[in-house]
Amino acid sequence: MGKILVFANQKGGVGKTTTAATLGAYLAQLGKKVLLVDFDPQGNLTSSGGADKSRPGIYEVITGARSLEEAIQGTQEPGLSVLGSNINLSGASVELIGQDKREFFLQKALEPVKSSYDYIFIDSPPSLDLITINGLVAADGVFIPLQCEYFAMEGLSQLVKTIQAVQKSLNRNLEIAGIILTMYDSRTNLAQDVAREAVKYFKDKVFRTIIPRNVHLGEAPSHGLTINRYRPGSPGAKAYEKLAEEVVQRV
Ligand SMILES: Nc1ncnc2c1ncn2[C@@H]1O[C@H](COP(=O)(O)OP(=O)(O)OP(=O)(O)O)[C@@H](O)[C@H]1O
Ligand SMILES: [Mg+2]
Repeated sequence: MGKILVFANQKGGVGKTTTAATLGAYLAQLGKKVLLVDFDPQGNLTSSGGADKSRPGIYEVITGARSLEEAIQGTQEPGLSVLGSNINLSGASVELIGQDKREFFLQKALEPVKSSYDYIFIDSPPSLDLITINGLVAADGVFIPLQCEYFAMEGLSQLVKTIQAVQKSLNRNLEIAGIILTMYDSRTNLAQDVAREAVKYFKDKVFRTIIPRNVHLGEAPSHGLTINRYRPGSPGAKAYEKLAEEVVQRV
């Protein structure tokens, strides 16, 4: 049975999407079957994975307009598939509010393919709204990317509280699967402080592999590639490759 992991942090721009796409690509290179689920109306994961945003995606699956088989797209990376998103998803959190079992739509949608993949990664938007809650309910574990910059820890208690609330009432199996330190710049004291604080609070939940700030990671999506194809030898690429190995061992 595959593991479903959701990338969550209501702070924007911390590396949720980059990590989901890149880690997914490296896990596929390690021979794992991986499905990237773009559960963010911005659709960044869909583009990063080299998939087509104009095709039906998760919104169409949730609403029953399309089947999973119709919506899942292959990528240039063998073993890596994408269930994309498009702007239609932006209305979902409002549309779902009045519905019965509104927190369980994503879980229900992914159920039939859970056993077909080793890892299913769900990307979520920078908010703690119903879309993110659906991600937390569908997942076995949460990955929390933490940008090693000012205010990184701020808002984390809100995220942890939300995770605990979901554990209590909606998804007992949910666990924090790991904290991923991103955009680390070893030259700054601040980055070191954030890393130290994170370990103090989350202990061994913090992955040992730290993702450095690396321009090539920022550039790769504009070439429609993930870093393993764009700049495989770069520090950012090597870090994500190592992180993938750590994930295989720990998750
Ligand atoms: N380690 C890194 N070094 C340099 N740039 C990075 C790194 N990781 C991500 N980026 C860039 O930083 C920006 C934000 O990253 P990303 O989109 O992954 O964050 P996010 O948490 O998904 O954002 P959002 O909350 O808006 O969905 C992107 O332009 C991305 O290319
Ligand atoms: Mg994102």
